[in-house]
Amino acid sequence: MRKKVIAGNWKMNKETTDVVQFVEEAVASLPNSEAVEAIVCAPFPYLTLLVEKTKGTTLKVSAQNMHFADDGAYTGEVSPVMLKDIGVTHVIIGHSERREYFAETDETVNKKIHAAFKHGLTPIVCVGETLAQREANETKAHVEKQVELALGGLDEKQVAETIIAYEPIWAIGTGKTASSADANEVCSHIRKVVEKVTNAETAEKVVIQYGGSVKPANVDELLSQSDIDGALVGGASLEAASFVKLVEAGAK
Ligand code: 13P
Repeated sequence: MRKKVIAGNWKMNKETTDVVQFVEEAVASLPNSEAVEAIVCAPFPYLTLLVEKTKGTTLKVSAQNMHFADDGAYTGEVSPVMLKDIGVTHVIIGHSERREYFAETDETVNKKIHAAFKHGLTPIVCVGETLAQREANETKAHVEKQVELALGGLDEKQVAETIIAYEPIWAIGTGKTASSADANEVCSHIRKVVEKVTNAETAEKVVIQYGGSVKPANVDELLSQSDIDGALVGGASLEAASFVKLVEAGAK
């Protein structure tokens, strides 16, 4: 059985006092279950604080992006070596907001995934279609291409350890959630793509999350689907109480 992975993506939100308050509230009530993994994906300035505050708890800490190089003349960038050095375990790669506003491409996504594995970080790799692509019936073809390019050159073990987040762009921050059936259809397709590029055994292992307006009210329905193994959550992960409810849903 694949475990459920609930990741809260805070995006560019929160200040120190909010971070401290969140962790204190969340770690006091997160379920202690082998069935679920809980991760917070925070802005760079708060990662060290979060690693310190979550020590000895089940809550894991993720970055929201990184550069693919170990070091060098890349002003303003953060490397996988640095993330590993401070105790971060996961990193979001290829979020649609980075693809749209910060020139992230399938090629840089692939380089960053390789760099994450090189340094023992688990990548949470985002894929998903625009509304225009969905309306043109191009969802599966688009997501298939993104997944294939993202996983290019990885070995089976690395693919099995990659977390793939299916986030339809039209559902992000809009309150519009894909129906659980539609979300599951694409997540199943992603699993087939993983099988095509590796094998059935690896495809069975890979965790595929859904993201896009997930909240406590719809998470049970989404997680009950055959190929949805968790959620990548923006808005509803900002409050500790709401985040805990999402993790509790994953532990059911
Ligand atoms: P929302 O949950 O706010 O729609 O954001 C989803 C997302 O982009 C998570 O990475």
